[in-house]
Amino acid sequence: MAILEYLSLKPYNTFGIDACAHYFCRVQSKEAILHVIQHELQYYPKFLIIGGGSNILLCDDYDGLVIKNEITGIEITKEEEDFVWVKSYSGTVWHELVRYCVLHNYGGIENLSLIPGTVGAAPMQNIGAYGAEIKDTFDELEAIDLQTGTSRTFTKEECRFGYRESIFKREEKGKFFIYSVTFRLSKKPLINIAYGDIQKTLLEKNISIPTIKDVSDAVMEIRKSKLPDPKELGNAGSFFKNPEVEKSIAEHIQLEFPAMPRYDLPDGKVKIPAGWLIEQAGWKGKLVGNTGNHAKQALVIVNYGKASGNEIWQHALNVQKSVFEKFGIRLEPEVNVIR
Ligand code: EPU
Repeated sequence: MAILEYLSLKPYNTFGIDACAHYFCRVQSKEAILHVIQHELQYYPKFLIIGGGSNILLCDDYDGLVIKNEITGIEITKEEEDFVWVKSYSGTVWHELVRYCVLHNYGGIENLSLIPGTVGAAPMQNIGAYGAEIKDTFDELEAIDLQTGTSRTFTKEECRFGYRESIFKREEKGKFFIYSVTFRLSKKPLINIAYGDIQKTLLEKNISIPTIKDVSDAVMEIRKSKLPDPKELGNAGSFFKNPEVEKSIAEHIQLEFPAMPRYDLPDGKVKIPAGWLIEQAGWKGKLVGNTGNHAKQALVIVNYGKASGNEIWQHALNVQKSVFEKFGIRLEPEVNVIR
């Protein structure tokens, strides 16, 4: 097991931040991660597991061990007439899994096309987009206890998924290495095109009976038109979560801003798009030094090339402060901020 020293993490985070890992290793098998747990972790003050590095902001150099998950592969574990169980190892690129499923006409994750990151990171924050979340097709996952090296299976209920939430971001934070994730997908896919932009895109292409490939293509087109490609402009997607507020607060804001978009939730609360709040606070398309908010989607904070992690974090705090001053709503980062 090679442990590298003082390695730049620039290629390993989609913000493109040139922070350095004091120690760095790659794991490509279960044996490798078990070796790290049993023989290495004890020697480092702290550790950080990364997949695609697409949801982290590295504020500074990391003075611990960075473990890059490169355990890949996709397998069918069970098949019935209507459903198929697809197991993917956690270092697999998420979109590779989506492509595999679309190719085989296994339906359920096509709306999540092109989300950056790896399969292992997906359940951590219950990734979601265009009317779907992974909890909708999640079956179970295998995780390895980072203290003991023992394996444990988590069912959907045990993961306690919520909006961009799971037990791995709360009670069990930092305690497990997610090794594989199994999805239950449909061999007779039901198309989910309730999200307005998908319908619009399909209509423009004159597609009236879409396949899951059509849906996947439409989602990719929408994402490419709205969200910056991290290969061209460093970013980690939505920087904040969409806040869920009491109905009275939403209605109070709407008196002054009748055009405010809102989604009424089953629990009576109202979800307000953080991108809209940030745009109203004047940040959309604004450049601040080496960072700023994207011109097409204010919720995405970008690195124009040379930003440090701290510069981006300071900018995010300024955005958070101004939204709070204008609306009384405190935005919560969706990105995992490593300080
Ligand atoms: N909006 C604005 N100004 C902006 C951005 C958005 O007014 O600058 C308004 C839009 O007009 C729309 C509403 O806000 O009425 C929602 O915008 P959008 O459809 O772009 O979605 P979002 O709520 O901003 C969420 C996810 C995205 C996901 C999209 C599509 C979160 C934090 N973000 O964004 O996920 O792709 O929905 O489903 O829930 C990510 O997590 O990294 C991510 C990109």
